[in-house]
Amino acid sequence: RTIYLKDYQEPDYWIDQTDLTFRLGEDYTDVTAVLQVRLNKNKQHEHLPNLVLDGTDMQLLSVSIDNQPLDSSLYSLTTENLSLPVNAEQFTATINTRIKPQENTSLEGLYRSNDMFCTQCEAEGFRKITYYLDRPDVMAKFSTTIIADPKKYPVMLSNGNLIADENLDDGLRKVKWEDPFKKPCYLFALVAGDLACVDDEFITHSGRKVALKLFTEATNVDKCEHALLSLKRAMKWDEEVYGREYDLDIFMIVAVDHFNMGAMENKGLNIFNSSCVLAKPETATDGTYQRIEAIVAHEYFHNWSGNRVTCRDWFQLSLKEGFTVFRDAEFSADMNSRPVKRIEDANFLRTMQFPEDAGPTSHPVRPASYIEISNFYTLTVYEKGAEVVRMIHNIVGKEGFRKGSDLYFSRHDGQAVTTEDFVKAMEEANDVDLALFRRWYTQSGTPVVHVSDNYDAANKRYTLTVKQNCPPTPGQAEKVPFHIPFAVGLIDALGNDMPLDEQGNTTLVLDVKEAEQTFTFNNISEQPLPSLARDFSAPVKVEYPYTRDQLMFLMSHDNDGFNRWDAGQKLAVDIIKELVEQQRAGMTLALDERLVTAYKSLLTGSSLDKAMLTKMLALPSEDYVAEECDVIYPLSIHVARDFVRRTLAVKLHKQFKTCFDANNTQKAYQPTAEDIAERSLKNICLSYLTLADEQGIELSWQQYQQANNMTDRFSALSILENAVSVKARDYAEQALASFYQQWQRDAQMIEQWLSVQAGGEYTDLEKIQQLMQHNAFDMKNPNKVRALIGVFANRNKVHFHRDDGAGYAFLADQVLVLNRLNPQMASRLLTPITRWRRYDEMRGALMKEQLQRIMKEKDLSKDVYEIVSKSLK
Ligand code: ARG
Ligand code: ZN
Repeated sequence: RTIYLKDYQEPDYWIDQTDLTFRLGEDYTDVTAVLQVRLNKNKQHEHLPNLVLDGTDMQLLSVSIDNQPLDSSLYSLTTENLSLPVNAEQFTATINTRIKPQENTSLEGLYRSNDMFCTQCEAEGFRKITYYLDRPDVMAKFSTTIIADPKKYPVMLSNGNLIADENLDDGLRKVKWEDPFKKPCYLFALVAGDLACVDDEFITHSGRKVALKLFTEATNVDKCEHALLSLKRAMKWDEEVYGREYDLDIFMIVAVDHFNMGAMENKGLNIFNSSCVLAKPETATDGTYQRIEAIVAHEYFHNWSGNRVTCRDWFQLSLKEGFTVFRDAEFSADMNSRPVKRIEDANFLRTMQFPEDAGPTSHPVRPASYIEISNFYTLTVYEKGAEVVRMIHNIVGKEGFRKGSDLYFSRHDGQAVTTEDFVKAMEEANDVDLALFRRWYTQSGTPVVHVSDNYDAANKRYTLTVKQNCPPTPGQAEKVPFHIPFAVGLIDALGNDMPLDEQGNTTLVLDVKEAEQTFTFNNISEQPLPSLARDFSAPVKVEYPYTRDQLMFLMSHDNDGFNRWDAGQKLAVDIIKELVEQQRAGMTLALDERLVTAYKSLLTGSSLDKAMLTKMLALPSEDYVAEECDVIYPLSIHVARDFVRRTLAVKLHKQFKTCFDANNTQKAYQPTAEDIAERSLKNICLSYLTLADEQGIELSWQQYQQANNMTDRFSALSILENAVSVKARDYAEQALASFYQQWQRDAQMIEQWLSVQAGGEYTDLEKIQQLMQHNAFDMKNPNKVRALIGVFANRNKVHFHRDDGAGYAFLADQVLVLNRLNPQMASRLLTPITRWRRYDEMRGALMKEQLQRIMKEKDLSKDVYEIVSKSLK
């Protein structure tokens, strides 16, 4: 069944107070929910409607209304609802249910992870705990009483403050938590287990002391420091940049090993996937450190953008997610290198979200319909949603944005609202008109902006003609123009930015609002080269006929960091695409020397900082090249890109070696922005050196053995794992064996160990199947599934896309297994084959065949059904 935004109605009843009691047991858990229910008088009622509660996968033990037990003949129960008769405008409903967390492999609702109990309720997991109005516009105050064996579960947590703790006569312990803020049930959380705690504290701007607590299994207490440091930085940043203070006296984070996503912002009790919170230098890479900083901040920022002000319905998901991703991106930019963060985010959006927006599951930032809401935790809702917020930020400016967010938070505190409310607050606080801009929320697809220009030397006048169009997407054949903030600079022959107005500004933001518009620049003294959509000012594709020489010029002169990097990407994509054609035509591959020249000047004459230089030296990924191709020939792309890497490695061997040596400083590990940049530069040089000759392979092997941190060790391992020579294969095998020997008891390390193999150029399907039988693998653990099967299907182009389609059949087999165990994981894993229309005919047909096979399965989850049926439409 499809749910439509246009059908939204307020609920018939509100719940003002929810008192929950959990009796946690080894075989089952009994839950008592006491709900204070009140008729919604905003709606017209001819008579009192039944109270229809959501609930699945539970055993109903008993129901009473105002303490009167209801006979089962008086209520009606289906697999999805409990419908109760009502005869008063206000009443107390008491519901007893029995659930089996031990058997819950979906990881939604209450479930077990190793020896602990934990919850995940967003979006609709609470209905697996008790019968409830499981929708975000129903906001109640919650208390949680937990009764359990204190020997097995010495730590018993829920939202808010601990208000009671007693030992019962039968040896059990009972604790009670109370959350003073009303909230939708998706923010409910419960944790019980034998956990160690690392404590810290934060003094808020107004001087309140907040206890910070990070809970993990005892073996991981040495991996908590970075998350706590990140949390304190995030708390301070939100006070300074948004004026947002934390509002409870305690903030808790719990790390769990079994988790479908990254983390969850439950009020006062965030629950994290272990891999997104735990780190120490011996085991975590720089990338992990930065990811933890971003995710800890993201979940913390939700306390205001999500919890204090929440979503009216799930169509509004981007209200909290787009805004919060924007907030965490700005935080990371302030903590690290701003231009590099922007490059990473824009690159991610273009490589991953653009294909989603051009594929069968394309949807607007605010979707209009869904079958299963879990399928809408997408790159479009999160990352494109963040770009939409960023565009508002760019339109109203930094101060204007703060005025808008202040108005939004004060006006809607304690409410469940819509993206429309957010835009309105921004509009009213700034007296701007965002009428056309709203189309970003309702139209799907990636707009294409075609730019042409003309220079009139006699009149010193330069004109830019900008045409926009957006390709059709499912359900949206025709589009109307978007309001695109289009940042432009003009560069003179010496590489300097030209002043574009009286104030001497060198970047102007053009408001593109029509299908075709011309912009005129006067007093332009010479023919300029345009720098378009600077800092990736809108999530669009820009087309301008740059020559390769012009791109080289921009690579060394554009004053906009993002466009300078992008010029290099464009040059490389153009060259790789040419090689793909050569490869397909059976020609000998020949590299345009200009790329070698460009790389040489980066390595020798560049004034760029190390983080930027590393970005500039990285070729566009195979995925990005694929996104830029009309038809994807995955193996040809792989061969072409590989040829470019090898040629650069050989021709610039000396330069890479010099750069490697200069940055191979062997200092004590610190995850600071500066040191991270230095390591990344050294390691990209090492990867080229390894392609050049056996000496490079020896160097990698040496680094693997001698590294004092996981970034260097893991870089060396993955370089060796992807190197071709017999010697390298031998080293890779030794390295993998010793790595496993050393780290087999560390869950995060095992994920790394699986993923480096799964993505390895020499790991074929048979090897993947072997690894699935290994102790290290567990189909019930999403991190392991992602590390092995996910990485294989998304990164191991050579073997996943093999000609006989066995890679696709394998993926479909795993999707069918997961369809029963964990539908959310199953539907996410499917993504690569849903893009079948983008591939060559032979591969497209083989992928489609597998989708059809999945479609025939009897008990398809809503999650998988929605994705497969849309992909075949
Ligand atoms: N709200 C969480 C976050 O963005 C994501 C939780 C999504 N969970 C899910 N089952 N879809 O931080
Ligand atoms: Zn979020």
